[in-house]
Amino acid sequence: MSQNPTTKLKQRYERPSISRHRAGFMNKMSASAAYQPKDSIDGVPVEELVEAHGSPLFVYSQRTMEDRYRQLHDALSRRWPRVQLAWSYKTCYLDAVCKVFHAEGAWAEVVSGMEFRKARRNGIPAAQIVFNGPRKTADELREAFAGGSIVNIDHFDELALCEQVAAELDMKPKVGIRLNMSVGAGVPVWGRFGFALETGQAWDAVRRLVGGGRLQLAGLHSHVGTFVLDSGSYKIAAGKVAGFANRLRKELGITVEYIDLGGGFASKARLHSQYLPGEQVSPSFDQYAEAITDGLSALDLPHDETPLLILETGRALVDDAGTMISTVFANKRLPDGRRATVLDAGVNVLFTSFWYRHDITPCTEPRGVPEPTVLYGPLCMNIDVVCENMMLPPLEVGSRVLVSPVGAYNVTQSMQFIQLRPAVVLISPAGEVAEIRRTETLEDLVMGESVPAWLE
Ligand SMILES: Cc1ncc(COP(=O)(O)O)c(C=O)c1O
Repeated sequence: MSQNPTTKLKQRYERPSISRHRAGFMNKMSASAAYQPKDSIDGVPVEELVEAHGSPLFVYSQRTMEDRYRQLHDALSRRWPRVQLAWSYKTCYLDAVCKVFHAEGAWAEVVSGMEFRKARRNGIPAAQIVFNGPRKTADELREAFAGGSIVNIDHFDELALCEQVAAELDMKPKVGIRLNMSVGAGVPVWGRFGFALETGQAWDAVRRLVGGGRLQLAGLHSHVGTFVLDSGSYKIAAGKVAGFANRLRKELGITVEYIDLGGGFASKARLHSQYLPGEQVSPSFDQYAEAITDGLSALDLPHDETPLLILETGRALVDDAGTMISTVFANKRLPDGRRATVLDAGVNVLFTSFWYRHDITPCTEPRGVPEPTVLYGPLCMNIDVVCENMMLPPLEVGSRVLVSPVGAYNVTQSMQFIQLRPAVVLISPAGEVAEIRRTETLEDLVMGESVPAWLE
């Protein structure tokens, strides 16, 4: 467990340096906001959390997850009669986090057999699992078809594999196909997933699927990207998918049962390329929902055949619910005069540092003049930069900072590289704290290893 900063350390000597005082400069984002200390998360003191679970520490707020889920569900269901959210497992597949969303009514969206099994283990019936991704094995497809999962086909080889598995099972399972398409200048086409709409490949896939006679086309899927800041892109995507559904009905007499528009909504994080804070830039759930239902209004179907609208939102539901508590390990001066602060959490557990300019909030009242500071992690690797440049007051060794938002993709993409992975805790709406993954040990690291006899 790390040092308790409340134990008063002897004042450290820091070599004096002169830097221009900038705190009072005109700044429409208000420079002082960054230095407002925050010493608790959902009412639980940061020091208590560190005492009990160590530092660094991932902290998830159940209340924020539930609020975000309900806001999104409301925004969609106010505008569309049949809505189903499917929690995107890869965004954070800790069981406790998944169960918060399942308790709210979310199905599971998985992209591998491992995630499929994890969802089943969490008690989700196969029929409430949406199975996506470019690699689904025959065994996995067998289980998914037998249980009535929604399987969205990614490519022609998978289509053939689905037919083979369907023949073996002697059934004609319902499937969907994933479409890729251009949705505006700001969003690069994720052409590697699904069938291309504009080139005619998607229509070829439909003819191939229908001609094969082994599968029933029941749905259309699209996931245009992630952190899509332009809600208008969803209007384009929904409009194109609706047009495709109309063509299916007109030319082939197929009425789709569901339209799945994937995930991709932005959280309140701020990308490196973003000038304004996420709060001001990221569209609201209402804006995304409005864009989607605007696009879907192009559907030419009788009212009683309105398809189920599925969303597989991940990041925008969980990102803002996650905070990393980290402890200042050291301060130093770089050759160019900048102050550098070394934290105990690095990019092996804060993967999103490569994309986000995270908020760094001191937990105690900082003293001293703010100056440009680079925040490093503890790894002996040059890439271990948590924040390249931020105006920060001096942060004492042993003091805590909060890094946020970190709820999406950091836990699932973290790795034991040089350092083991920290514990994760969940705070309930009533303020109870539970460890939902313990700190890793050396035993965890070597668990699957073995040494060949000739080296013993
Ligand atoms: C098919 C699919 N659905 C849903 C998601 C979740 O996306 P996000 O976390 O951006 O909402 C992803 C992530 O890339 C995905 O690939």
